[in-house]
Amino acid sequence: MYIKDLHLKNFRNYREQNIKFKQGINLLIGSNGQGKTNIIEAINYLLTGKSYRIKQEDELILWEKNSFYLKAIFNVVDRDINLESYYEPRKKVMKINQLSCKKLSDYVGTVNAVFFSPDDLDIIKKGPQERRRFLDHIISQLRPSHIPLLNSYLRIIRQKNILLKKEKNYNLLKSQIEVWNEQLISLGSKIIKNRWEFTDQLNEYCCPIFNQIFSPESNMELTYMTTGKTLEEALDIFPDYISRRMNQEIERKAVLVGPHRDDLQIIFNNKSAKLFASQGQQRALVLCLKLAEMEIILVDKGEYPILLLDDVLSELDIYRRQYLMNYIRSSQKQTIITMTDLEEELITDDTTTFEVYQGTIRRKE
Ligand SMILES: Nc1ncnc2c1ncn2[C@@H]1O[C@H](COP(=O)(O)OP(=O)(O)O)[C@@H](O)[C@H]1O
Ligand SMILES: [Mg+2]
Repeated sequence: MYIKDLHLKNFRNYREQNIKFKQGINLLIGSNGQGKTNIIEAINYLLTGKSYRIKQEDELILWEKNSFYLKAIFNVVDRDINLESYYEPRKKVMKINQLSCKKLSDYVGTVNAVFFSPDDLDIIKKGPQERRRFLDHIISQLRPSHIPLLNSYLRIIRQKNILLKKEKNYNLLKSQIEVWNEQLISLGSKIIKNRWEFTDQLNEYCCPIFNQIFSPESNMELTYMTTGKTLEEALDIFPDYISRRMNQEIERKAVLVGPHRDDLQIIFNNKSAKLFASQGQQRALVLCLKLAEMEIILVDKGEYPILLLDDVLSELDIYRRQYLMNYIRSSQKQTIITMTDLEEELITDDTTTFEVYQGTIRRKE
């Protein structure tokens, strides 16, 4: 799949801009603060209905304007797909081929992209929330029903947390918790199952990729950390586990058990990557996670997703960069790469270069 044409109106620092992308490699070159990441953000917004950088969409509107509009034409399995999104405060419209979508889950996953930026190091460095988000993002792209599932689950967690903080009468509290727990078990089990299965899929690809790019002797392994050593066991003991911790939850006034507490453990050479891998190794591990994500999408959709690389090329050493570029060129993968200085070695027949300067983009001949 690939993006052909992108139109932005009053989005971030773009007043009105049209970009015609090509298949192959598209380089966006410009010094800092010119609007390269804003383009990647616009594409991501069109694909996911959200920005990965901010919570409030108002920030995406060009200063002193009241709304923004994005439109792009994509090619998916030899057909054109039109995605549009319009936003003004308190009004958001998302359309696929001119038809409005009521729910995010109707929209997400129509076109897929894998996005990689230096901030993705957080997947390894930061807490479990980052890793759950990484997993949930992949799952949502391929199984959009995961989105309402997560929303419902998290809403019940919030309600149960309020109950645990407010209700003083033990018997009343206990009976109400039991009602919430029933729903948490039903929704939570589905979330655990989805995450476990996708972890297995990622696991299949990431270690071979790591061996190929970095070192044949090293190993990389992912484990979904929940209650239980196998998926069957986890789902089997979850209901019992949740009810056994009830008194503890009442004591601590917080929901202690369930997939909102789970983690994706990333193991490198039999040790925790977070604790023992070097900065460079961690960067390599994240790259492999992203490339594994590409492969999973290929298997599911029959086409590679669009690859968006924001400022990451300069961070990789020459050897790894070479590998990444070979990987990109080895089969049809449209790639959009941002960088501050044009590096001549990247230019081949399949490369299109754009210059980004103060919110305008010009194709470089
Ligand atoms: N809502 C907005 N309206 C106008 N300009 C914005 C808005 N949000 C960010 N900017 C500007 O966009 C620029 C940053 O763009 P970005 O794409 O992150 O740059 P880079 O080329 O370094 O990736 C900054 O100059 C910032 O002031
Ligand atoms: Mg940037």
